[in-house]
Amino acid sequence: MTPVEAPLETLLKAQIAASGPISLHDYMAACLLHPDHGYYTTRDPLGRAGDFITSPEISQMFGELLGLCIAQAWVDQGAPARFILAELGPGRGTLMADLLRATRAVAGFHAAAQIHLVEASPPLRAVQASTLADHKVTWAESIAGLPDDAPLYLIANEFFDALPIRQFTRHVDGWCETIVGVAQNALVKGYAAPTARADLAHRMDDTKPGDVVETRPDASPIMARIGTQISSHGGAALMIDYGNWRSKGDTLQGVQGHAFADPFAAPGHADLTAHVDFEALANAAAAPPTNIRATGLTDQGALLARLGIGARAERLSRNLTGAALENHLSATQRLTRPEEMGSLFKALALYPAHMPAPAGFD
Ligand SMILES: C[S@@+](CC[C@H](N)C(=O)[O-])C[C@H]1O[C@@H](n2cnc3c(N)ncnc32)[C@H](O)[C@@H]1O
Repeated sequence: MTPVEAPLETLLKAQIAASGPISLHDYMAACLLHPDHGYYTTRDPLGRAGDFITSPEISQMFGELLGLCIAQAWVDQGAPARFILAELGPGRGTLMADLLRATRAVAGFHAAAQIHLVEASPPLRAVQASTLADHKVTWAESIAGLPDDAPLYLIANEFFDALPIRQFTRHVDGWCETIVGVAQNALVKGYAAPTARADLAHRMDDTKPGDVVETRPDASPIMARIGTQISSHGGAALMIDYGNWRSKGDTLQGVQGHAFADPFAAPGHADLTAHVDFEALANAAAAPPTNIRATGLTDQGALLARLGIGARAERLSRNLTGAALENHLSATQRLTRPEEMGSLFKALALYPAHMPAPAGFD
């Protein structure tokens, strides 16, 4: 039986037939957020029944500890009477719910917080509204929708890896951008002719012909906005994702049903992500004239250990027995062990240069 073609595949093939190959960036953007057929536009992909699971869905401790880190930064900066508590790409709202529960006892924190969620997915907004039904929450389509007149305390977990990338392969005569075309009635990856790229000048020293680098154009304005607001009004931002200080290699990945999937096989039906280049995030936020510092990159496992996951895990385990205890122990290990998510996932924080770095960071 011939497999049924995904509607987005039909649309993209028609577009490519009419106007030629598209960039990997535009392909990824359509796959993830096409208004009718995008992966995030049409579903809640998280959890055991979905395609992948994230740290907040693995254990409540993740959101609790990051929440206490944010609250400590707020206290360290003089507990401003009004601030924006924002999350980018909040998924099912689990991290924010755990953060809010863990910070209930921090005097004045909830009264001062205005909760804003930046979420592009209508189905996930509905899940967030239900998870956070006890709180006053405002949604924005993009970071431009956040109020910019108050301190900003922001979390983004596995948000930047979901933003589309551009990909370039170094060639003796410049850089060849990865493009998507059609061959034998299938969407296939190809390469544009080499061009000079001033934005990749800094990669000439650490690459050679054949090497692949990736950029994420949509991340820079988001980070610039975060940097400007924290520089002007105070606050802190925590970015947790998989990736490294500098991107190298082809890291595009498709995931469907908790297994790797060909990113070009069923557009709109697989999650597409790529490693985050934290150096680019830090540079976009902490560029002059901002008065912003970026911490060093910290492994997720080390960060959670410094924030006290050992003591919190032990406290929670006291009320558990049998399968629930087993699950709790394996969730703790999954978040922290280097061979699980502890090293693959990294965290970067931004904070005003004249303030202490958020707790748990170097
Ligand atoms: C991998 S999920 C992570 C969810 C959540 N942070 C967690 O850790 O469980 C990516 C999230 O970012 C959202 N998202 C992806 N691209 C977005 C965009 N361009 N603007 C706003 N939200 C976006 C998705 O809908 C989803 O909520």
